[in-house]
Amino acid sequence: MLKGKKILLGITGSIAAYKIITLTRELVKLGADVRVVMTPSALSFVTPLTLATLSKNPVSSTYVSDEHYGEWTNHVELGKWADLMVIAPCSANTLSKLVSGECDNLLMAVVLSLSCPLMVAPAMDLDMSDHWTTVRNLNTLIEQGVLVLDFDEGELASGLVGKGRMKEPETILHAIEEQFDRKSNLKGKKIVVTAGPTYEAIDPVRFIGNHSSGKMGFAIAAEAADRGADVVLISGPTHLSTPDQLERINVTSAKEMFDRVKEHFSSADVLIMSAAVADYKPVNIAEQKIKKGADDLQSIALESTQDILAHCGEVKQNQVLVGFALETENEIENAKKKLKNKNLDMLVLNSLRDAGAGFGTDTNRVTFVFADRILPNELKSKLDVAKDILDELELLV
Ligand SMILES: Cc1cc2nc3c(=O)[nH]c(=O)nc-3n(C[C@H](O)[C@H](O)[C@H](O)COP(=O)(O)O)c2cc1C
Repeated sequence: MLKGKKILLGITGSIAAYKIITLTRELVKLGADVRVVMTPSALSFVTPLTLATLSKNPVSSTYVSDEHYGEWTNHVELGKWADLMVIAPCSANTLSKLVSGECDNLLMAVVLSLSCPLMVAPAMDLDMSDHWTTVRNLNTLIEQGVLVLDFDEGELASGLVGKGRMKEPETILHAIEEQFDRKSNLKGKKIVVTAGPTYEAIDPVRFIGNHSSGKMGFAIAAEAADRGADVVLISGPTHLSTPDQLERINVTSAKEMFDRVKEHFSSADVLIMSAAVADYKPVNIAEQKIKKGADDLQSIALESTQDILAHCGEVKQNQVLVGFALETENEIENAKKKLKNKNLDMLVLNSLRDAGAGFGTDTNRVTFVFADRILPNELKSKLDVAKDILDELELLV
């Protein structure tokens, strides 16, 4: 479950910091990609060398690592990188900053740049854990949606016995796993995703294709598999490697894609057609390579390919059908028509007029079109767009 998950561990100045060595080791053993950020105080409790060795990544604690060479840690990049940030142990001091938003160290700058959930495991002595400011601060975090792992009771570093211990590493690990084992409506659902271009042969060496990279479809397939769906990814020619935990079927032409989609559609719960399927194909495919000759090739006769979405829209029973449209003009109007004509449940509209959207880029700006509403989105990474699409899908299945 944690394989490939990007987990950012934040360590603060508490004696419980030594326990994070075990947590780091366990997370790495389970396949997570771990990075560690420490407050300057935390450096007195555990060494960055230990954590860097175990996490297999450099540890950061200050903004600037070498001012002579201008090397600095990009807190925004770290904040955007993580799938989950866990601050453990979280001192009373950092807890207070989490509530106030005070940003006087790298860890806090990373927190303020996060675009993923935050989990906090506080640790402090008996009276500190009972102090009204601590109680209030923890409640504020909970109200803000932060995942708070409440104190354990037991012997404290001061010698006192009571509430204040950080949750044990295995409990924190379990909470991290639970966080990724989301309750998703897509769990166990069969989702067919098409991706990439199709190539329509002209002769044995030439084809008519398009610029689709497949990145959007692959991101959707990976995210659906992450949410526990049984994903079948039907891909046209791309150089992308197959995401974990899914079945990949490679095809070349629109006809092959149609055949493979048909094969899986009747048993599918969802079809997401993000492939850029050719609309036309040559009527005849030359058996031999067409030679460069005296008579110039004037034209290649084309005929329509089978419309996969339209076919699935016609025969669909309970399946949810999601289409993509790339428009260059009258975007919304055309998208609404396509949604209706092809009996779709949702249409993801790209416009080539938007900078950073469309083919080959790692970003996309899309508008979701439904029968009863239109939902524009910001320019985002294709991974985030995939998450948005599946969040909408969660409501449709
Ligand atoms: C030996 C020792 C243990 C400490 N343990 C804790 C602790 O468990 N919880 C806590 O809130 N502060 C603890 N402190 C105090 C913090 O280290 C101190 O408040 C520091 O400013 C925290 O900074 P930070 O939040 O930036 O890491 C401890 C201090 C020392 C010297």
